[in-house]
Amino acid sequence: MAKSLLRCAVLYALFGISLGVVMAASHDFANKGVHVHVNLVGWVSMAVMAMAYHAFPAMAESMLAKVQFWLHNLGLPLMAYGIYAIMHGLPMAEPIVGSGSLIVALAFVAFAANVWLNAGREVERSSFGARREAVVQAA
Ligand code: HEM
Ligand code: HEM
Repeated sequence: MAKSLLRCAVLYALFGISLGVVMAASHDFANKGVHVHVNLVGWVSMAVMAMAYHAFPAMAESMLAKVQFWLHNLGLPLMAYGIYAIMHGLPMAEPIVGSGSLIVALAFVAFAANVWLNAGREVERSSFGARREAVVQAA
């Protein structure tokens, strides 16, 4: 989960930074809201979460990590597209930015719950998991 999230984070970074370069070059700052949130909610927040999953394996193995991953990756594109559309004269995109924002907020709730429940907890290994690890190590 840490690796997938970090890979998504760098894709958001590349997109957010490209947008920054285009804004700076064109002196058109209409997309500032998209730039800010793709960089901070996409790149920075996802990278921090990926580091947390790497540092605390019990968090990465929890269902809450999958919930956060999918909500974050569903909500942020909706939120970013909604901000873009509103800033380009489509006020009816408000429900899109609203629902995207709520989904992103839920992703953060799942992450927060995961921190409180699982950070620092030992990973429980089933006997099947232990056998599989032994096989992988032997190979
Ligand atoms: C090559 C990379 C980047 C370029 C060229 C760039 C460019 C810009 C530009 C042109 C603005 C608008 C400034 C204005 O309204 O006067 C801006 C705002 C902003 N950028 Fe970037 N940016 C880059 C990377 C980043 C990254 C990586 C982050 C966050 C991790 C970031 C966060 C922000 C924030 C928070 C603002 C709003 C600042 C404010 O309103 O005072 N930027 N950026
Ligand atoms: C569901 C999540 C979020 C929602 C709904 C949200 C909403 C907003 C709104 C409505 C604004 C004001 C925009 C404007 O007046 O132009 C704003 C600005 C800002 N937000 Fe967020 N935000 C969210 C998450 C975050 C997160 C997680 C970060 C940082 C990690 C962040 C960083 C910022 C910054 C730096 C600005 C100022 C941008 C500027 O100067 O133009 N936001 N946000």
